[in-house]
Amino acid sequence: MSTLADTPLAYVDGQLRMEGAALSDIADAVGTPVYVYSSEYIVDRLNAFATAFAGVPHRVHYSVKANSNLAILALCHAQGAGFDIVSGGELSRVLAAGGNAEDVIFSGVGKSTEEIDFALKVGIGCFNVESPGEMARIANRASVLGTTAPVSIRVNPDVDPKTHPYISTGLQQNKFGVPVEAALDLYRDAASNPTLSIRGIDCHIGSQITSPEPLLEALSCLIDLIDKLANEGIDIEHVDLGGGMGIRYSDETPLDLENYGRQVADLMSGRPQQILLEPGRSIVANSGVLLTRVEYLKVAGKTNAPNFAVVDAAMNDLIRPALYQAEHTVVPVTESPAEEQNWDIVGPVCESADFLAKNRLLALNEGDLVAVTTTGAYGMVQASNYNSRNRACEVLVNGDAFSVVRRRETIEDQLRLERLPDET
Ligand code: LLP
Repeated sequence: MSTLADTPLAYVDGQLRMEGAALSDIADAVGTPVYVYSSEYIVDRLNAFATAFAGVPHRVHYSVKANSNLAILALCHAQGAGFDIVSGGELSRVLAAGGNAEDVIFSGVGKSTEEIDFALKVGIGCFNVESPGEMARIANRASVLGTTAPVSIRVNPDVDPKTHPYISTGLQQNKFGVPVEAALDLYRDAASNPTLSIRGIDCHIGSQITSPEPLLEALSCLIDLIDKLANEGIDIEHVDLGGGMGIRYSDETPLDLENYGRQVADLMSGRPQQILLEPGRSIVANSGVLLTRVEYLKVAGKTNAPNFAVVDAAMNDLIRPALYQAEHTVVPVTESPAEEQNWDIVGPVCESADFLAKNRLLALNEGDLVAVTTTGAYGMVQASNYNSRNRACEVLVNGDAFSVVRRRETIEDQLRLERLPDET
């Protein structure tokens, strides 16, 4: 399998391109580190969902947390996607990008009163309620604001998604959702509360799931509950299956979307509910690369010691390798005939956890550009200012043109919010 499979990247005359744009031109124009995303790829992925789920009424609600750049949200909106959000901040982003509140689903275990009020005032599409306490608070705020709140209950089906423990969410030991047994009672409460309007049922069992079985097991669990609710006269309009569709980082077999879509359509056959999907990673991860330049090469003095390529991106730009042991592919931007050696690709941050990749065979020289692939999801959104580093800029490619969709942060941006204490 080529390292560039499932990406918008290809070498042309030894130069790595995204769509029609040479990545070295982008680095020369805006500097490094820089996140670069392909708009064509994102549109293709949204179309792939439409094809895979053609057998069932459905809608994609792009999960904003994966990549919340306004340009990406505007692109998804233009393609007809709704949004899945987990904070008031993400709601503000959707609105700023031209999205509509009624196309937004609000998930998350800790919605604050301020966030609930904001969502109610702008006319949110649906709250995915994650606890009895949250349901009571939403009902109370809807009553205070003189409105009704559209709700769905996030069910925790206790299904093992077989993924990294930090991104598993559908097991009873995870904080998310309401256990199946408790969900029935909570629906009864909601049905008897005039300030709540029941819309759907929801689950999200985890992320980077590569086999359909756990996802389908979760759907079967929701269908059982829908039938029980129907017996009590409680009707459900939509079934939200969450996101979590696994993709290829290096040699994984990604979730077969068409097969998953077909099986969902089979399970839902004859049922009136619309399927909602909340994909994040599977829309944007492979649209993006993190471009970084080699600052220094530190060749091992001893056998068995690693060679270090110190690059200008660090764990503050991309924390996934340090946090989830994620393996991102690293490729040269200009192909080189020189002999390859093993390198640990590390950043300037003062931590040994500051690595982007370990033990990679590459031909590297100081000053070379490399691309860390599959970084369109959970890359920039998890970036920080650790070590007072300015966050990278972001670029969106469209054909052979590209635009800066977030300028590089400056030290003035970082210092703006801070003050020395008043003299006493
Ligand atoms: N819906 C809900 C309620 C979620 O919690 C998530 C992700 C999604 C949808 C989107 O899941 P996706 O399709 O992207 O798998 N930072 C981690 C991933 C955390 C995912 C959290 N929830 C990482 O870098 O792998």
